[in-house]
Amino acid sequence: MGDTSDEEKALGKVKVIADQLGLSLDEIKEKKYSKKTLKRMLKNKVYNETKIEKRKIQKQKRKAKRKELKETLGINLSEKKPRLTMSESPNKVNIAIDLSFNSMMNEKELRKLMKQIQRCYSLNRRSDAPCQLYLTSLKDEIAKGLMSKQPGFDYWDIHRKEEHFLDAFKDFKEKGTLIFLSSDSPNLLPDVAEIQKRGGDYAYIIGGLVDHNVHKGLTLGLAQKSGIQTARLPIDQCMELCVSKVLAVNHVFEIMLNATNGIAWSQSFMNVIPARKVKQSDALKSIRQPKKEHKENSENVVQKDQVENQSSASSGSESSTT
Ligand SMILES: C[S@@+](CC[C@H](N)C(=O)[O-])C[C@H]1O[C@@H](n2cnc3c(N)ncnc32)[C@H](O)[C@@H]1O
Repeated sequence: MGDTSDEEKALGKVKVIADQLGLSLDEIKEKKYSKKTLKRMLKNKVYNETKIEKRKIQKQKRKAKRKELKETLGINLSEKKPRLTMSESPNKVNIAIDLSFNSMMNEKELRKLMKQIQRCYSLNRRSDAPCQLYLTSLKDEIAKGLMSKQPGFDYWDIHRKEEHFLDAFKDFKEKGTLIFLSSDSPNLLPDVAEIQKRGGDYAYIIGGLVDHNVHKGLTLGLAQKSGIQTARLPIDQCMELCVSKVLAVNHVFEIMLNATNGIAWSQSFMNVIPARKVKQSDALKSIRQPKKEHKENSENVVQKDQVENQSSASSGSESSTT
């Protein structure tokens, strides 16, 4: 007796859902829809029916909020922030990606490098103060690849040089202000205030290479042979990594771009270096949770910057700053 009434109840529920879905009980039996499937179908139906209406309401709310802000505070949120081109930017620091390593990469690695270059370009384009971004040795496969595979490459606001960076930045080499960035360098980059102070008098070169560090020490050796200075990012001074300190081209560029905009090394490392590479000490874990503990975190960053400044000042015994 009890069983029959339970079955009836269940059937009643299915009937209600079937009606809402516009299905007959025969159709449900034939297609062998389970109760769970029917519930999911109903949920999707309700979602789809209300989606457009909900979006309309949200749009109206946003519009009203923008209007209110404009009327009460004179803030116009609909106005797009103007983007500065490199020539308009007050940031004159030169950062070049050296593309002279084509022959050392297979097709997959070349494609990866192109993606990394695209990322560097878009980071610079969206920056409040873009730096002077160069591509040197821009010829052969990489040039052809960028032109054919990157939509709009011809219109990119980027300095293009076919020459090798040693020719493109000859004056800088003579003045001793040409620095090749290499994780293998015995020298550290100075603090960001110094990078900003030097401005356009200096040029920093990033090796355009995707090699999973198979060619360890390659760019350091080449730079030393050419008689130019080298420097590494002060990662050890700010955090412990569980893997090698060799970063991808786009990560090095992002950190350098941030530095030219006055963002402290430690803050950049925390935001840019992939979390999987970072040894998750408790301190770093708390810094990597931005929302709730924001105030606490910014204090941590300040404290870390003080440590960073002290350590880079005191690291002179181990490595000089370049
Ligand atoms: C994927 S790495 C290539 C590593 C390569 N074996 C070499 O000899 O440079 C790409 C480039 O990013 C820059 N780079 C990577 N990690 C760096 C670090 N920790 N400090 C400074 N530059 C770094 C270097 O310019 C490097 O050539």
